[in-house]
Amino acid sequence: MSTDHGGPVAVLVGTMGAGKTTVGRLLADALGVTFLDSDHAVEARAGKPVQEIFVDDGEAAFRALERAAVATALDEHDGVLALGGGAVLDPDTRALLTGHRVVFLRVGLSDAVKRVGLGAGRPLLLGNVRARVKMLLDERTPVYEGVATLTVDTDGRSPQEVAAEVASGL
Ligand code: S3P
Repeated sequence: MSTDHGGPVAVLVGTMGAGKTTVGRLLADALGVTFLDSDHAVEARAGKPVQEIFVDDGEAAFRALERAAVATALDEHDGVLALGGGAVLDPDTRALLTGHRVVFLRVGLSDAVKRVGLGAGRPLLLGNVRARVKMLLDERTPVYEGVATLTVDTDGRSPQEVAAEVASGL
């Protein structure tokens, strides 16, 4: 499958717990393309896990690495690309998405909290997971809506169902 504009066949956005990685892998399999997660691209650049980048270098350094990794992925990756939940908060990263097919996987508070569990490996969830997820959802939902060309609800649905709906909407 190819896009008329080049770059990824779909870019998945949404908060932690929206299911971007699980749905992204299923979608890529269904479309016969590869899957890339921006967090993994960042880790490859930095040579260490996301959590260590936050602890050692801070969030601003992480966002700069993320911006560079997303720019490269949008140029070079022609499969499914999932963005870390906060990537679109950076105005420069957000601007890179213009002209791409951006799918917002929408999730409500209860399902997001269930899916992230204790928040392991997610530095921004340290402390009260539910309160942190609620804050992120409130702050970020309008931003996801602003960049999305397609929105798919994920609450109470299996990743397979969500992936099928995304595929049919592309
Ligand atoms: C973040 C989400 C994480 C990761 C980092 C920051 C965020 O990715 O990029 O911990 O700001 O929401 P996932 O959404 O894939 O968990």
